[in-house]
Amino acid sequence: MKKTNLTFIAAILLCGLSAQPVPSIVGPYKAVNPYKYSIVKNAVYSHGAVSSAHPLASQVGAAMLKRGGNAFDAAIATQLALAVVYPGAGNIGGGGFLLARRTNGELIGLDYREAAPSKASRDMYLDKNGNAQVSLSQNGHLASGIPGTIAGLFASLTYARLPFRQLIQPAIDLAEKGFVITEREANNLNNSRESFIKYNTKPTIFVKPVKWKAGDTLVQKELAATLRRIQKNGAKGFYEGETAQLIVEEMQRGNGIIQLEDLKNYTAKLREPLKFEYRGHHIISFAPPSSGGILLAQMLKMIEKYSVKNMGFQSAKSVQLMIEAERRAYADRAEHMGDPDFWKVPVSALTSDAYLTQRMADYQPEKAGQSVHVKPGIIKESEETTHLSVIDADGNLVSVTTTLNGGYGCKTVVGGAGFLLNNEMDDFSVKPGVPNMYGAVGGEANAIAPGKRMLSSMTPTLMMKDNKPYLTIGTPGGTTIPTSVYQALVNLVDFNMTLSDAINKPKFHHQWLPDEVYVEKEFIAATKQELEAMGYHIQERPSIGRTEAIRIMNGGKREAVADVRGDDSVAGY
Ligand code: DON
Repeated sequence: MKKTNLTFIAAILLCGLSAQPVPSIVGPYKAVNPYKYSIVKNAVYSHGAVSSAHPLASQVGAAMLKRGGNAFDAAIATQLALAVVYPGAGNIGGGGFLLARRTNGELIGLDYREAAPSKASRDMYLDKNGNAQVSLSQNGHLASGIPGTIAGLFASLTYARLPFRQLIQPAIDLAEKGFVITEREANNLNNSRESFIKYNTKPTIFVKPVKWKAGDTLVQKELAATLRRIQKNGAKGFYEGETAQLIVEEMQRGNGIIQLEDLKNYTAKLREPLKFEYRGHHIISFAPPSSGGILLAQMLKMIEKYSVKNMGFQSAKSVQLMIEAERRAYADRAEHMGDPDFWKVPVSALTSDAYLTQRMADYQPEKAGQSVHVKPGIIKESEETTHLSVIDADGNLVSVTTTLNGGYGCKTVVGGAGFLLNNEMDDFSVKPGVPNMYGAVGGEANAIAPGKRMLSSMTPTLMMKDNKPYLTIGTPGGTTIPTSVYQALVNLVDFNMTLSDAINKPKFHHQWLPDEVYVEKEFIAATKQELEAMGYHIQERPSIGRTEAIRIMNGGKREAVADVRGDDSVAGY
């Protein structure tokens, strides 16, 4: 009797995975044409919409919505498609965070951040003189944490409607038959050519004898085979069996430390989302091990008592106020934030009104603060990532930020398995005070320990308006992520901008250390001069963030917007 039950359960489980072949939606005359596609930056849809870093991935997600899937189905299919068409950041060898609000009001925070391997140790990136070797935390095999994405996708499947084998099929087809690459992708691949050669132990598809150019077709047969193993065997198709074996063999060839047991033991975790209010809007964001939600709450609440609107959009006054809030929040990040399973993060103290009022007590309008004088608060209480936003016809909101960390991660492709590994270990504090690749410093809270998750800045965020689901938003950009989301929300709430303007207007960023204000090229020149006169050091830097957002308009239509800074594109129906 027992055996029959088990057989029955096994049959049910497998039908979600390996049953009949799934009809393809990818092909020249199908819903998704991988050889001819265009970028759509802003569109309004009646039912559901997806905004992501690549047109093909958004189209795959929208196709799932159209065939009856919900926002979780679309998010899963879009992430898998991104792993193929956007190899710099889309991934199965990285990790991420999913934040969602279901129509019944349930909030879901799914943490599938990479974890340090069991053989990792606090000083693993220090040489014999105690100097940090960030080249090892940033490149090659030792830089990779245990990938979390596939565990995260299967954990998200609990809330989805369609069988997994359908959700992964477009990604398999895109990998197997290929897709044409954009100019931006061609340039990125060409720029990483030397690193691919240096950090791989086997030839990889990303290196070819001649340079990549726009319109070339990228075919990834080994990746297709890996995705098929996942289609057939579920998460075990990645964390056990042939794929796991290939990862471990790759590690052994390149002095990496991820082992079979590390992969087998990895799990996604549910985290309580962080909730707070800003000028009457309910905002929901991600809790540790991301610092994103706390930083967002701190920065918004530090400026809430000032009339940012009257100060004017990107006037020296409003920008100065916002910078000083950024400075103080990032000082707290360095001291107090890390994986909550290893370090007690004082979330409620850090986001309390009393604490944040006291934090701004030494703020002086029209005079630059100095990070040497702004220490982390005392608490008494015991550049490639990618974001996708989805809203479905029922009003489920999903916001996912996922990453390999740097562009193409650690640049190492798992030999025979065709996917890139992350360099997320660099998000740990490899040595107190030594900046990571985003210039962020940290200490004990974010020190390396086996099984620990490295502190992130990813900030998938949702906003309610008049107690109704309204907005899903997020962006890549390393430490600039929380400031980008912060500024987009201020643009929406305080300056009443359109969604396109809110995400596309120039951005600025301060992160405590280094004590610099970074601005995008288009930042208002007069404001820059005024800030310099107040004593700020201002540096121009390449674009900040690639924000993807969708909102529900009055009347119920969905407005989807993709950042102008990349190939980002929306789709829907
Ligand atoms: O988790 C983090 O905060 C970083 N690994 C994100 C990296 C990133 O956004 C790179 N994008 N440009």
